Amino acid sequence: MKIQKTALIAGNWKMNGTIKEAKRLVSSLLEKYNATPSLDAKILICPPMTLLNYVGNLLEGTNIFLGGQNCHYEVSGAHTGEVSANMMRDSGCSHVIVGHSERRSQYGETDKEIFCKVEAVLEHGMKAIMCVGETLKSRQEGNAINYVTRQLDEVLNSRLSLENLVIAYEPIWAIGSGKTPKISEIEEIHEVIKKVLSKSLSQNHEVPVIYGGSVNPTNAEEVLGLEAVNGVLVGGASLNTNDFWEIVNAAS
Ligand code: PGA
Repeated sequence: MKIQKTALIAGNWKMNGTIKEAKRLVSSLLEKYNATPSLDAKILICPPMTLLNYVGNLLEGTNIFLGGQNCHYEVSGAHTGEVSANMMRDSGCSHVIVGHSERRSQYGETDKEIFCKVEAVLEHGMKAIMCVGETLKSRQEGNAINYVTRQLDEVLNSRLSLENLVIAYEPIWAIGSGKTPKISEIEEIHEVIKKVLSKSLSQNHEVPVIYGGSVNPTNAEEVLGLEAVNGVLVGGASLNTNDFWEIVNAAS
């Protein structure tokens, strides 16, 4: 089952990686990348902030994109420990992940705050990968669609131009757990997200919707084979270059 579109394969390293480890990971990735003459996938690497510059330099001259995992919505100011969208752009990022469920649950990020971050990322000319996804409880109670569409309300009610928005559907219970929804459930949510967002967009534009949550070399081809899936956001498996490359190949 091969797909006919350029999928985004994004690696989210989360809070992992020293300079030494990044050097090893990126070198082995580039070895595979350079040995592949034609690649029908867009690769994005999202290392921790401390490695943005370093990884960005290693990726220079390739078509592999650099992304951040989070940012603040203000441009600058007294926000100790924070980094703005402007600074992410300055570090070479083309994408920023916003509203990851770990940010929502561990740092109490709200839909309103996440919307402000999306706005800041788009204003600074980058693509915002906004994460949404239901809890296990809401999935079991049959409320997954409502849960996810509610997370889109702020964006839907705004006048923001959404051309550079990417949605990552990441069911919270699937992240890092080895569990994934049924393929039909992934398809259903992706179609709903696309449908609700299409109402806010010009006719010829569709917001890409990528899937995240325990993507691995075994399930990648089936997930990426879905018409409504425009790529994957890979956590754990992005820290293993062989696994990550198999996922890239599943898209090509
Ligand atoms: P996982 O993480 O692939 O380890 O489940 C995905 C994510 O959190 O983006």
